[in-house]
Amino acid sequence: MHATIVTLPGDGIGPEVIAEGARVLRAVAARWGHSFSFEEALMGGCAIDAAGDPLPDETLAACERADAVLLGAVGGPQWSDPTAPVRPEQGLLRLRGHFDLFANLRPVRAYPALARHTPLRADLLDGVDMLFVRELTSGIYFGQRQEQGDGDDAWDTMYYSVPQVARVARVAFAAARGRRGQVTSVDKANVLAAMRLWRRTVSGVAADYPDVTLEHALVDACAMHLLRNPARFDVLLAGNMFGDILSDEASVLAGSLGMLPSASLGTGTFGVYEPIHGSAPDIAGQGLANPTATILSAALLLRHSLGLEAEARAVETAVEAALDAGARTADIAAAPGEAISTSAFTDRVLDGLA
Ligand code: IPM
Ligand code: MG
Repeated sequence: MHATIVTLPGDGIGPEVIAEGARVLRAVAARWGHSFSFEEALMGGCAIDAAGDPLPDETLAACERADAVLLGAVGGPQWSDPTAPVRPEQGLLRLRGHFDLFANLRPVRAYPALARHTPLRADLLDGVDMLFVRELTSGIYFGQRQEQGDGDDAWDTMYYSVPQVARVARVAFAAARGRRGQVTSVDKANVLAAMRLWRRTVSGVAADYPDVTLEHALVDACAMHLLRNPARFDVLLAGNMFGDILSDEASVLAGSLGMLPSASLGTGTFGVYEPIHGSAPDIAGQGLANPTATILSAALLLRHSLGLEAEARAVETAVEAALDAGARTADIAAAPGEAISTSAFTDRVLDGLA
């Protein structure tokens, strides 16, 4: 098949990990006889420097022409002045909003080969395999806000409407059907009105999925259960902010933030695929970054935007085989001498694809 893929490397380690993700996609194209054309565009801090805008019009236009977008990470200390009028993260939020990418999928698995690397007891990690479905274009991230610059008050609004909750809930229930048939909906219904609407709406949608079990969990208790008994979770459905926080917490189960991919989807097949980690400016440009999250994001791109399930699985299997064979970047190495570089790690993944 032919597909057009836009890469948005962004800032910090973004360019390094995107280079590896693109290498994997090229290898997939060569092995399975597909033709992928790549176009690179500016986004984030580098786009502020070059064009004064974290999401320039040309970047948006390139994304509009594409079948899918592979994005690195944005941000860095040089753009993080809290009083600055433009910030790299605004580009990311605008991109998600522009394409109405309301469903953010974040699969989390524990890799037996990395069990030693987590601070949790290995027996707790047995069978950990969950999927976060995070609402991505509403909630407190997109609600009305008032920012007073250096004034003495500021506020943000957590807003949800029934259609907004219902459509992301449907994504979670549909995903649960192809998994273990269980949805945990995360909220703070004991305090927040928007979260009471969330709970009521999710319960209503559940009626259309009688074969799926629904439980509601308050976000604070859920944060605790995620570490006490992670294997009991199947699909976790959460609003924008709680999903952001809990998925970083859950990355501990996978061994490193460098392991977790994501897919941001709307109603069609177009999607934006990105590692959940940030731009890690402290390790940028040194070949230390773990490309796994980006490579697994590329696998999600193959699956969800291009419909190439066998190819997606082959990439995921190759990552697992590389880990099983002892390939380790610095963040998942037991000893400093064990670590290999970002591109050497990708070489090991590519060995498994050949
Ligand atoms: C994420 C990130 C972003 C978010 C930031 C960079 C705006 O943390 O994708 O998880 O909060 O959504
Ligand atoms: Mg985050």
